Amino acid sequence: MYIDSASREQLVEWEEALSAQYRRVCDHQLSLDLTRGKPSAAQLHLADSLDGILNDDYRASDGTDTRNYGGLTGLACARELGADILQVPSAEVIAAGNSSLTLMYHAVLTGYLFGFAGHTPWRKLTAPKFLCPVPGYDRHFAICAQLGIGMVTIPMTATGPDMAAVEAAIKDDREIVGIWCVPKFSNPTGVTYSMETVERMARLGQSSHPGFRIFWDNAYAIHDLGRQVNLPNIRTAALEYDTLDSVLQFASTSKITHAGSGVAFVSASPANLASLKKQMEVMTIGPDKVNQLRHSRLFPEFTRLKEHMKRHAEILKPKFECVLQQLESHLGDSDLGAWEAPEGGYFVSFNTRPGCAAAVVELAADAGVKLTPAGATFPYGEDPQDRNIRIAPSFPPLEELDTAMSVLVLCIKLASVRRQLTASG
Ligand SMILES: Cc1ncc(COP(=O)(O)O)c(C=O)c1O
Repeated sequence: MYIDSASREQLVEWEEALSAQYRRVCDHQLSLDLTRGKPSAAQLHLADSLDGILNDDYRASDGTDTRNYGGLTGLACARELGADILQVPSAEVIAAGNSSLTLMYHAVLTGYLFGFAGHTPWRKLTAPKFLCPVPGYDRHFAICAQLGIGMVTIPMTATGPDMAAVEAAIKDDREIVGIWCVPKFSNPTGVTYSMETVERMARLGQSSHPGFRIFWDNAYAIHDLGRQVNLPNIRTAALEYDTLDSVLQFASTSKITHAGSGVAFVSASPANLASLKKQMEVMTIGPDKVNQLRHSRLFPEFTRLKEHMKRHAEILKPKFECVLQQLESHLGDSDLGAWEAPEGGYFVSFNTRPGCAAAVVELAADAGVKLTPAGATFPYGEDPQDRNIRIAPSFPPLEELDTAMSVLVLCIKLASVRRQLTASG
């Protein structure tokens, strides 16, 4: 189906046939959900041995009684787990509660209210801003929106954010104080940053506002579907350029064990860790060390964690294949959109023809298939070209996913044809 070269008669014919097909789908009264990137029940089940794993032995190997208060930076063995995931020294890791998003929110607040490492708090600047590679993760953008931090969009490329645009923005505006990055299997594009991108990121700290921080949200650090994809280590690069203070790294076990009750990690330079701890020690007496110990017992070595991730991949891979197969077989030979084939992570990003994404999401909703709202992958929920749709294949069973995808491709065709008909008068 090539819309650009189709005659009006052809478009009318397509519209009638697709509308009839769409009405038949609506009659089925489906109720399917492709919205959030949640692990499926089968994935959660992989970590069910967490329950009871302590077997009445609450002492960590260093003798800590995990039931009691204390230990602001987390158990040593949990910090080692975070260090393995992020490939950094455990001395630079804090193991915290169940959510890396909470840690990111906390870190933004630290920069905003108090300033990192003795630098001016961002709230004292006239118009502090973050760079936001798009499409990106809606919850990152929501943190900035809530605190009134401005957002400057940066296009994503196949190797990461457009670094020329990043460098130009930082040169032009001294009030850019941060950038959101999901460096491996980016949410939603699935892109992993190249060596050049990581190097250029690490160099930003040489020319930016001194309080500038890279929020390196490595949520999918070990979430490869097959081939191990290598993300260059930003800490190593930052040490080379003497910019370690400009990097804050995050990860969690949310998509490794139980999504709602995992362990989250932040890694940073000693100066940044001191700033974070200063705020944390007022907020809490310490994290849930019992849960940290449970995770350390489940993964006593990094190899065990990697084996565990292979089992996740076995469950996830057929779902990604289903999405890609549906897109390829129905839209491969067309001018109706473009997508990536990610090698890991939780999403497939689909770009419709300009001006069609919201209509596709609405058509799908009316046919009983819920999608993430169009625009959600952009700051303030506004996709200027109305193109991006984030597909999250992990949660539904394979059969439901297949049905939902066949509805989605139908809606993409129908919305595209209708829009072309309107545009052609
Ligand atoms: C990029 C990214 N960061 C963070 C999170 C949330 O992580 P957590 O459960 O550790 O708060 C998600 C969840 O979808 C995500 O996609």
